[in-house]
Amino acid sequence: MKKMTGTALLAMGLSSVLALGFAAPPGMGQAPDPKPSMTHHASSSLENWWKNAVIYEIYPRSFQDSNGDGIGDLNGITSRLDYLQKLGVDAIWITPCYPSPQADFGYDISDYEGIDPQYGTMADFDRLVAEAKKRNIRIVMDMVMNHSSDEHKWFQASRSSKTNPYRDWYVWKDGKGQTATDKGQPPTNWQSVFGHSAWEWDAKTQQWYYHKFYVKQPDFNWNNPKVTKAFDDILNFWMKKGVAGFRYDAITTLFEDPNWTDEGVVMDASGNPKINAYGDQVLDSSKTDNLPGVHPVMNHFRQVEDAFNANAFPGHRVLIGETYVATINDLLRLYGTKDKPEFELPMDMQLGFINKMDVATFRSKLIDVETRIEGNNPMLVFDNHDNPRIDARYGDGVHDTEITRVISTVLFATKGASLFYYGAELGMKTTPPTRKEDVKDPVGVTGWPKDKGRDGERTPMQWDDSAQAGFTRGTPWLPVPPNKAAINVKAEEADPNSLLNWYKALIHLKKTDPSFREGENVMLDSDNTKVLSWMRKGPGKASVVVAANFTTEPQTVNLKEAGSGKVETLLKSPGTADPASLEKIELPAYGVFIGEIE
Ligand code: NOJ
Repeated sequence: MKKMTGTALLAMGLSSVLALGFAAPPGMGQAPDPKPSMTHHASSSLENWWKNAVIYEIYPRSFQDSNGDGIGDLNGITSRLDYLQKLGVDAIWITPCYPSPQADFGYDISDYEGIDPQYGTMADFDRLVAEAKKRNIRIVMDMVMNHSSDEHKWFQASRSSKTNPYRDWYVWKDGKGQTATDKGQPPTNWQSVFGHSAWEWDAKTQQWYYHKFYVKQPDFNWNNPKVTKAFDDILNFWMKKGVAGFRYDAITTLFEDPNWTDEGVVMDASGNPKINAYGDQVLDSSKTDNLPGVHPVMNHFRQVEDAFNANAFPGHRVLIGETYVATINDLLRLYGTKDKPEFELPMDMQLGFINKMDVATFRSKLIDVETRIEGNNPMLVFDNHDNPRIDARYGDGVHDTEITRVISTVLFATKGASLFYYGAELGMKTTPPTRKEDVKDPVGVTGWPKDKGRDGERTPMQWDDSAQAGFTRGTPWLPVPPNKAAINVKAEEADPNSLLNWYKALIHLKKTDPSFREGENVMLDSDNTKVLSWMRKGPGKASVVVAANFTTEPQTVNLKEAGSGKVETLLKSPGTADPASLEKIELPAYGVFIGEIE
């Protein structure tokens, strides 16, 4: 979750090789026409497609509207698959498009086996899967297991009476001090990530229900095997439709403390309770997040996905986790063990959400995720629909494009899978609402003005410079930012130095260069606090060196520890010279150099 609201989850503990030796044309970030993969579906790459995958997150409401209602939809996504293929993505993760009252824009699901009419029909979904497959693009669905909508038939049944068979599908408790005539106080001090108590009184059945998120998102009771069985069926339903896996939402919050004890209050530096944007005391989340119950459940769903793999459609179904955890060891545990595997790709949120251009922290977090996960596969991510975009967390308002080049280099030129959010490739900027009455996100409604919510990172995709940026012919559900005049696909496709062409070139390198695909990450010049440098070593004779300047001043680095041979430019940011040798690589402000050495 977003830092402000889910201080929460963040703070706590919240294919194919076509051309070998590809070199970008001299000049910067110029991308050759990325060639579609021909061997993508050969059996070994079929199994391992996810290891080096480039995965693109689509917020369907905001990507492309096809029917003029101002809301993006599935047919809109289908119409943009050629763009995604040229960009080089292997898979798209679509945030929830199931039927939903949209209280949390789809993360409140009222039917797990349907498509919300706002986004289209099941036939549209099937067509999207089929068209994407033709372009070697896989579809990853969002799977929200922590909670459903309060309008889901299961919760409606659950709240209808204390004896209803669905009662124990959700978390119900008596209040503290509750009597026949007094509801008492909420059962614990636990808080919703979206503000205030996580318990809601239900007058009809005279008990409190637990909701880690919005009041309209009651938590499932994961101690009930019937809930597990229901999700087995849901996963199989979507796998039969041909999806390539799931991104498991809020997965570390499935379980709560079985003893129902209060959480600790977090203190500030002066010894006073910390207060968040909602005016609530900040709690340590120790009783509601990252509890051990999640591991057997995820091992179970790994088996469900693997079993499907073996028996039906060929090709590996992947488990991706929304895993905001406090330490690398917590992340390691989410991969499971050899005997009891869990996620293939639990997201590493520690590197991507440092939110500061600090070389030493980047280096240490990179070393963690590349070397301290026991040979598992890293998944890096720097942005999503819950956090301000890269400009607002890393930018300085002057060098945002250059800084995004640095960030994207860390994302694509290191080992493992890379996940990024629609519009990042254009340098789309966070554009929060300016008036409370315009806020759509429940987080902003409760948190205003301290927390303006997540609308700012959910504005429509900027396709061109027309009135609604090519997103809709109607009125967009969120306004199109005025910067669409310069920041848009059409303009950036035409500019060899654009961020979009930089992303294409990096992704192409990631997919075609053997060192990028298989080389170990070895940090170079490890005491340098201004430039982050590393090498992708091997697997053959050639290795790749990468140097990224994290400052506004020009910097020079000596990377002779990487080797003594010649260095040949593979890709460099605008204004960066071709170095004569590894001993003197000169970088302008936020400059990036990527070169091949013998
Ligand atoms: C995490 C999702 O990314 C976020 O958008 C949502 O509000 C919460 N989980 C609740 O499902």
